[in-house]
Amino acid sequence: GATVPLMSKHALFMGTFVHSKALDELEYLHDTCVAVSAPEGIIAAIEKGIEGSADDVKSTMVKKLGWNDAVEVTDHRSSGKEGWFFPGFVDTHIHAPQYPNSGLFGKTTLLDWLNTYTFPAEESIGRDQVLANRVYSRVVQQTLSHGTTTASYYATISVEATNLLSLICLSQGQRAFIGRVCMDTELSPSTYRDLSAEDSIEASVLSAEFCGKIDPARKALVPILTPRFAPSCTPKLLSMLGDLARERDLPIQTHISENPSEVALVASVFPGSRDYADVYDAANLLTPKTVLAHCVHLTPRERRTVLARGCGVSHCPASNSSITSGECPVRSLLDDGISKIGLGTDVSGGFSPSVLVSARQALLVSRHVAMKTGNDADKLSVEEVLYLATRGGAEVMALGSSAGSFEVGKSWDAQFVRVGSVNASGTGSSDAGEHATGPVDLFGTETWEEVLQKWLFTGDDRNTRSVWARGRLVHRKK
Ligand code: GUN
Ligand code: FE
Repeated sequence: GATVPLMSKHALFMGTFVHSKALDELEYLHDTCVAVSAPEGIIAAIEKGIEGSADDVKSTMVKKLGWNDAVEVTDHRSSGKEGWFFPGFVDTHIHAPQYPNSGLFGKTTLLDWLNTYTFPAEESIGRDQVLANRVYSRVVQQTLSHGTTTASYYATISVEATNLLSLICLSQGQRAFIGRVCMDTELSPSTYRDLSAEDSIEASVLSAEFCGKIDPARKALVPILTPRFAPSCTPKLLSMLGDLARERDLPIQTHISENPSEVALVASVFPGSRDYADVYDAANLLTPKTVLAHCVHLTPRERRTVLARGCGVSHCPASNSSITSGECPVRSLLDDGISKIGLGTDVSGGFSPSVLVSARQALLVSRHVAMKTGNDADKLSVEEVLYLATRGGAEVMALGSSAGSFEVGKSWDAQFVRVGSVNASGTGSSDAGEHATGPVDLFGTETWEEVLQKWLFTGDDRNTRSVWARGRLVHRKK
């Protein structure tokens, strides 16, 4: 059977490390060595201000850590401002079976988008393991190549296809939350829904137990209970899922308050509930391990509920703009004390598998909020959206002590980013050719802060040269 793959050798990484220290602060660690111990891929030491050859640094670190000599060394100190290590991205909300629909949404909004594009795509993948293999292999490979080291996936209602997604994440080395989708109401097509609440629970248990068999300690794979959203679940199913989450200590993900018609639909289907959040709260689905996608139109009372229950928010700006759901008021959520906020690509409500694109869109959407309110404070900074992309996402997924930044005791979940320089004759290393480094052009006068700003706005997966998850190299750009 499948087992969790491990790192084979201790490793040392040298160069500049950039990560979030706080919501509005990036820390730049130059001439630094990060030591990563095998087999779990945990950061064992961070040594600043290193000098001398890689061999010298290696012998010092090996002695200090009491390691044997079998150490892999990656020295990027000569990159200057053209290369740095950055934490792996956390995608807190992505639908794996919707990947083939990326970019397809026309002028639909949520409820007609589901019927036109989404349910048919998910149903076909749930029925065809060959197609599921093709799509899921591709989406995991694509997200890894864009620097996503942790992803929280929605799969489909099919247990078989969901288990395949678990195996693919495991073999490609991405840390993943695997959600078999639960939906048992007539909102979903008769050919693509759970036949009863009991059936939905049984199938969810099967897919969770499949993850548990491969990775009992939940180090690489975490099953996540996934009621699609309130209108596609009966009250009975919701409350059975709340019970199951408690019994098996499982995280939960769902959608909430994405679009005004959806909010109105929830009010009409659940007339006894005070609001949308109350539907989930009544079923004990709001926990510190609950990921709430969107949160665009939450009322003050719902915000208090989300805060009191300690839930995380997955902000999906590309999706909210594409299917015209609205503008999530992130600053205002933060001001209300909701600090567990991460980013989701929400493929394929969102068009891109890149969390870097989500971060860019989060910054732009915050500008639209600011234009409406006239309040400059609503603008999110580059530092802030990169925090949401890494540490914020780790907090949302309850991985705050093990991922999201470079700290001793955390997992080595990282990417090496390389950008290009334009030389005296006006040509750049970003141009096509053997050493092409993607679209970011530096002219040599930029500060480090400006380099990170340029990466956020002009970078793409060509700049993501290497990616490691749990210490293992999981992607390298050729
Ligand atoms: N609400 C219910 N299902 C979905 C979905 O697949 N995507 C998004 N963005 N919202 C949803
Ligand atoms: Fe979604």
